[in-house]
Amino acid sequence: MAAKKSAKKSSKKPAKRTAKKPAKKPAKKPAKKPAKTRRASTKAPAKKPAASPTTPELIAKKRDGGALAEAEIQQLVEGYVDGGVTDYQMAAFAMATFFRGMTPKETAALTLAMRDSGTVMDLSSVPGVKVDKHSTGGVGDKVSICLAPLVAACGVPVPMISGRGLGHTGGTVDKLEAIPGFRMDMSTKRFASQLKKVGCSLFKQTAELAPADRQLYALRDVTATIESVPLITASILSKKLAEGIDALVLDVKVGKGAFMKTPEQATELAKSIVRVGRLAGKKVTAILTRMDAPLGRTVGNAIETAEALRVLHGEGPEDLIDCTMALAVEMLRLGGAARSEKDARKKLEAAIASGEAIRVMEKIVKAQGGDPRVVAEPDRLAIAKSTLEVPAPKAGFVTGIDAFEIGWSSVSLGAGRTRSDQDVDPAVGITIDAKPGEKVKKGQPLARLHVHPKQRRKVASVVERVAGAFTIGRRAPSLEPLVLDVIRR
Ligand code: URA
Repeated sequence: MAAKKSAKKSSKKPAKRTAKKPAKKPAKKPAKKPAKTRRASTKAPAKKPAASPTTPELIAKKRDGGALAEAEIQQLVEGYVDGGVTDYQMAAFAMATFFRGMTPKETAALTLAMRDSGTVMDLSSVPGVKVDKHSTGGVGDKVSICLAPLVAACGVPVPMISGRGLGHTGGTVDKLEAIPGFRMDMSTKRFASQLKKVGCSLFKQTAELAPADRQLYALRDVTATIESVPLITASILSKKLAEGIDALVLDVKVGKGAFMKTPEQATELAKSIVRVGRLAGKKVTAILTRMDAPLGRTVGNAIETAEALRVLHGEGPEDLIDCTMALAVEMLRLGGAARSEKDARKKLEAAIASGEAIRVMEKIVKAQGGDPRVVAEPDRLAIAKSTLEVPAPKAGFVTGIDAFEIGWSSVSLGAGRTRSDQDVDPAVGITIDAKPGEKVKKGQPLARLHVHPKQRRKVASVVERVAGAFTIGRRAPSLEPLVLDVIRR
């Protein structure tokens, strides 16, 4: 089950390890000397093969709204990984793509070129349908941490590759690394053997897997080029296709705290990912879920991990449990472990009630070098002790919480990054004390900021920003359902 250099046939287009330089056309055989008596040809002389366009020409083509050919996209991606295309050129290309978009053909070419920029794993020796889940990114979205062990506890192997925070959204890698000793940078060989033994591996993208995405993801994070359907499609799918999955469930977040602000944009992204994923031979389902307010009651790293672990104990906030269950049901169905939604829910509830989900998570944490005691006792995770309350300015019902504002507030505390070379602070974060629909008295805490004592005086503006994210009305709002749509084709 060793990782293979793209040897597995996983799409209509055979996977290949891309060469460092764009493949040269085979050298032409030397032309035969013209026979002395040859008649003059009436045909036009054969055209010389066109030289590859330069990087500035490719950027300009996209800037001007043109569609790039598959070979041109490969040239850019390969050049970016081997250093021939610089970060500033790729940033310009990302911005041009942000404004001009891509055709479905270009998006598929970009995805496959990014997948093939590194190793494509072959997990065919691991029995069962391997199913992963990915979120397009939200605030307080710690679902992967409880979902992966829960689904694995029901017999579906879960190879999961996760990312760091992006923009105002948190990342599973940053959250899980809050567990003392927990490592996500294992080799691809270990990733596969743990998957076989424990039923789940939680992996972070290494230099081997879809390196083009790794570089571009970090670049987009700091160049305001995240919210683009083709770039998100290629980013998510390139790494998922490279990890050797059979099926993928996608959580497409919609709303103020998501990259896709409207259901129309989210549907476009969902369809784009489902289309390209199917083209690559995978079963893909996209579930659209609301992301106006933060998911659950915590935003940060250690604090979110603790909340997610509580879900495995049958505790935790309702919206987090609902989101986890909706995605888990679909993973069990795609993985062949349940025939119907009812059947899937029964199995998932049993895995929590019997403690099997906790046992699987303990095995995962132990196998990845972490302290497994945090699974049974999430309070062991270190959360900054000093708190700053955000009081309700008046009595009433919380009618909304702007997740985007809360996300950036959490980044300002140090839980996320504003430059790609920064480290995150696992201990800081925000507790949401009053969720939409809940009644508050004047002065009652809407939220609490968890900070280090030395930060207290510096974060007054963050307290104000968090306060401004809450809206309070006289009447209880009617809350929209969490799951908006399920897209399978
Ligand atoms: N998640 C990813 O992996 N990539 C994106 O571009 C957005 C969300």
